[in-house]
Amino acid sequence: MDELELLNGVKIPIIGYGTWLIKNKDATNCVKMAIEAGYTHIDTAQAYGNEEGVGKAIRECGKDRSELFVTTKVAAELKTYKKAKKSIDESLKKLDIGYIDLVLIHCPQPWLLFRGKRRFFKENIEVWKALEEAYKEGKVKAIGVSNFLIDDLENIMNNCEIKPMVNQVLCHIGNTPSDVIKFCQENDIVVEAYSPIAHGAALKNEAIIEMAKKYNVSVAQLCIQYTLQLNTVSLPKASSKEHIEDNIKVNFGISDEDMISLIKLNEIDYGKDAFWPVFNKKNKAN
Ligand SMILES: NC(=O)c1ccc[n+]([C@@H]2O[C@H](COP(=O)([O-])OP(=O)(O)OC[C@H]3O[C@@H](n4cnc5c(N)ncnc54)[C@H](OP(=O)(O)O)[C@@H]3O)[C@@H](O)[C@H]2O)c1
Repeated sequence: MDELELLNGVKIPIIGYGTWLIKNKDATNCVKMAIEAGYTHIDTAQAYGNEEGVGKAIRECGKDRSELFVTTKVAAELKTYKKAKKSIDESLKKLDIGYIDLVLIHCPQPWLLFRGKRRFFKENIEVWKALEEAYKEGKVKAIGVSNFLIDDLENIMNNCEIKPMVNQVLCHIGNTPSDVIKFCQENDIVVEAYSPIAHGAALKNEAIIEMAKKYNVSVAQLCIQYTLQLNTVSLPKASSKEHIEDNIKVNFGISDEDMISLIKLNEIDYGKDAFWPVFNKKNKAN
């Protein structure tokens, strides 16, 4: 699997297996299936409630720990140094895989206040200190953030010792946060594209379906390749073996012309999933 290099030299595989909404009891099987299919990068979070199941798969899959890259995220609601520090130690215990490759602040604001007026700048500096400490202690190999806007990033960059190495953001055909991506890439912050298939909504979008036909690939593969060509790490989630395997077999290129037309595509209907804060149109970053 190809990799990108983080600011501190740590290598991150460019496709990661997303585990949001995979129940703890199913996570071990799903993650083992993903590793069997060739994934070496797994994305979980405290909020997903499946760190134990993910960790069990990592321990039992037969791969050396050093061959795998595991990310977790400090829950969005934990906005003090003490709570964040305790939660990282809990994640280490639940995962039980020795160390964590990457820990992110899941969101600059608690989900109920997502993209609201209150920005939690002071609080995120505190939380970041807990991540810095875990990094210095060797408990985690890299640290970063998620859902951060440019001023959220500047807040950490201007007031803390270590720069975020990663920003994980909503990025898929139909929602490309170009300004945030540009800012991150200019500042050597690796961007991870979450929900690269638009949480499934891309599968029903006519323009995307047509473009996938043109390249003779599945819609999911087109979506994943799109995020890779933006030089972001792609984090598709799938629960069936067929989808898991499909998503890692991306082996084609999208022409510059088609990339431009896909970047411009700005309408996607999340349908019944629009209730999630990250898919709510009024919370959009771009
Ligand atoms: N940091 C954050 O705030 C944040 C927020 C959201 C997501 N994430 C991360 O990003 C990951 C991915 O995002 P996501 O879970 O929202 O969704 P996604 O990867 O954009 O899409 C997943 C959906 O696409 C379907 N699918 C996947 N591969 C397919 C294929 N080859 N053919 C047909 N259908 C396919 C899945 O179906 P099946 O499950 O039936 O296979 C599922 O319904 C998450 O799991 C999580 O790790 C992070």
